[in-house]
This record gives sequence, C-alpha cells and structure tokens, in this order.
Amino acid sequence: MDWKFICKIDEISENRFTIFELNKISIGIIVYQNIARAYLNICPHAGAAICEGIINDYKISTKVHHTELISEDSLILCPWHGYEFKIETGEAIVKDCKNLVVIRLKNENGNLFVYI
Ligand code: FES
Repeated sequence: MDWKFICKIDEISENRFTIFELNKISIGIIVYQNIARAYLNICPHAGAAICEGIINDYKISTKVHHTELISEDSLILCPWHGYEFKIETGEAIVKDCKNLVVIRLKNENGNLFVYI
C-alpha cells in the first residue's frame, strides 16, 4: 500500500460524493463541513454503491427496518435497503451492520492522495 494521487480538491463537490476508480477500487470522496473524507464505495450490508446514496442533511434519520432511530449526525442513505451511515465516521446506525470502510486521505497543496 502507498499514497496515490486521486484528484484535486477543486474537483470535489461540497456535500456530495464524487466517485473515482483507482487500481480497480471504487472510492467516494466528499467534502463535508469543510473536511474531505474518502470511503470505499461498497455498502457493508450487501455491496451497493453506497456513495451514490442520498445525504440526509436534516440530521434526523428515518425509520430503518421498523426501528425508529434518531441521530444528531448527518447520514448517507444506502440506495438499496436504506441503511444509514454517519458521514463524519462511516459508522453504521443499525447495529447489526458493519461500518463503512474509511480510506485514509491527505491534502497536499490542493492535491488529494488516498492510501490504498
Ligand atoms: S446494500 Fe446497503 S443497505 Fe443493503
């Protein structure tokens, strides 16, 4: 594994994932609350492209599998079955689901590098 250039920070939208393919790995990058974050673009539940999900900016989650869950965090909603994950950490809201895989990211003078 090594640091690999992925894009310039200017190519990333605020509050929306931009998806890249690098070494056959799909990676979603988002700038959220002025911080760039990168996740493996695979939902840990059943493999959906999680970074194509909707960002919930209302900071309250919806009903998930008949359990009403309330969160103070902003969430990404999986497009397949609706599981939710915290944008800031990738943590799954539903406890029986694994967290998103965080990819280490660094910004050097506006150039973003991922550690893969
Ligand atoms: S694949 Fe994401 S919730 Fe099922």
